[in-house]
Amino acid sequence: IHPTAARRGNPIVVQSDLTSYSNDFITSKFTNRGADVSVVEGQYIVTPTTKHYEFQTARKVPKTGLMMVGWGGNNGSTLSATILANRHNIIWHTKNGIQQPNYIGSLLRASTVRLGTDPSTGKDIYVPISDVLPMVHPNDLVLGGWDISGLRMDEAMRRAHVLDYDLQRQVAPYMAELGKPLPSIYYPDFIAANQEARADNVVPGTDKQAHLEHLRADIRRFKEQHGLERVVVFWTANTERYSDIIPGVNDTADNLLNAIKTSHSEVSPSTLFAVAAILEGEPFINGAPQNTFVPGVIELAERTGSFIGGDDLKSGQTKLKSVFAEFLVNAGIKPLSIASYNHLGNNDGHNLSAEPQFKSKEISKSSVVDDMVAANHLLYKPAQPGAPVGSKDAKGEHPDHIVVIKYVPAVGDSKRAIDEYYSEIFCGGRSTINIFNECEDSLLATPLILDLTILAELLTRVKYRETSATPALTTKAAEFKPLYPVLSLLSYMLKAPLVKPGTDVVNSLNRQRNALETFLKACIGLEGSSDLLLETRIW
Ligand code: NAI
Repeated sequence: IHPTAARRGNPIVVQSDLTSYSNDFITSKFTNRGADVSVVEGQYIVTPTTKHYEFQTARKVPKTGLMMVGWGGNNGSTLSATILANRHNIIWHTKNGIQQPNYIGSLLRASTVRLGTDPSTGKDIYVPISDVLPMVHPNDLVLGGWDISGLRMDEAMRRAHVLDYDLQRQVAPYMAELGKPLPSIYYPDFIAANQEARADNVVPGTDKQAHLEHLRADIRRFKEQHGLERVVVFWTANTERYSDIIPGVNDTADNLLNAIKTSHSEVSPSTLFAVAAILEGEPFINGAPQNTFVPGVIELAERTGSFIGGDDLKSGQTKLKSVFAEFLVNAGIKPLSIASYNHLGNNDGHNLSAEPQFKSKEISKSSVVDDMVAANHLLYKPAQPGAPVGSKDAKGEHPDHIVVIKYVPAVGDSKRAIDEYYSEIFCGGRSTINIFNECEDSLLATPLILDLTILAELLTRVKYRETSATPALTTKAAEFKPLYPVLSLLSYMLKAPLVKPGTDVVNSLNRQRNALETFLKACIGLEGSSDLLLETRIW
């Protein structure tokens, strides 16, 4: 086909021999530059490395469904109502005037990347991230899911107390058309006892194998009913307690599948949903903090090539922490303690008022500064090999970091968070910075669910292969293959990013965004963002 015809429909066309367009694919050549470093007698010996790849992105955006677990909760009902408001262009009155629906807070739909410079004006050109590659529009997502509470979706939206009354009033008929969530799997031991009153819509029985097959059938039926090519399954249900990792039970894929067959008590509902999605070949994202992805789930995803991502939406306090702690440490300032306190009054807060569920949240909120601390051995003494086990030296130096969450029903969905950063500054000085923030929790979380869903779908369409050093000599190149199943490129939206076992977690928000931006640009044959702006530094 003629190259111009193939490029039709792309908001961005890259003219270079690194990028080619066909009717079905955008293909790009990419050189991954790095460095191998070894320390020899106190000296760093650095060898720059280059590896060559090709990326191939399928251009056709599939008809995509989003099945939420916990669909009738604050996030699930808010997401559904706001998509419907956008889709039907519903405007509503607030005490401040008229409000239009929008996707503010979505990285994909409300933020931009710098493409380059207009040579005629010398000005930078920015485009929405959603224009870089063909992506699902949130308005086109087909919505569905499960909840242990059987309220119809319009009633679930009312119960959530999140959206303005005038919006609720107008969107309610569309919400009612969505009907009730599908009955779900309820094992009371995994969520707080205070949730029991909601559980009036559950799949009967205690046979976990039968439950798994039930969920798989639900996913298949949803796909068929709506003519979908892809379904993303998203856990936005209550935070569960951690599952114990037990050798022989959930440590390998086979053991886990067997533990499901024998209905072992440590297989949680969220793990069952993850296994169902994986076996159906559909992506599964965990928006809550519990360890859904026990080692057996990760191995199963690897074995089947199904995509998974998690854990826990990074919406407010932790998002700021992943910027602020990095700012301090990278400025050469040494946080000695970070004390984080929250209170909230929605159902999530109610569930988190129970100790085992709070523990899951505490773990996911606490890991967020680890990589920044580890990256600066000038401020924090690294772990000393050979130091007595459990000693401070064996663990390495780390700021004191504490997280408190309290349930205060009166404030509803409007979460309040206080963070104190207490740091050592120049020559023994001290600095204390306090941050107070207040925000409607579900309105922060909803755009993240959209970004995660849309990116997960996109990443199922990107394939790669290694090529030879000379990009022209790729005739005998290997077959294109899919990305590794744990989608760590989703980290920006997640508090405790799941990564390929054995690789480092990156918590820094800036590095996470940079990775995503660089990857998306690489898929159209562009270099990642450089703030070098060399042309502005030289004559
Ligand atoms: P929510 O409590 O309003 O909604 C959770 C829903 O899950 C409820 O409708 C409940 O009935 C349902 N549910 C519980 N167990 C279930 C099961 N086994 N199967 C199907 N449904 C089940 O909570 P919200 O505010 O919507 O948050 C959802 C999750 O997202 C929580 O785990 C929360 O910790 C997490 N999260 C929320 C953030 C936010 O800013 N809103 C940020 C980070 C994480």
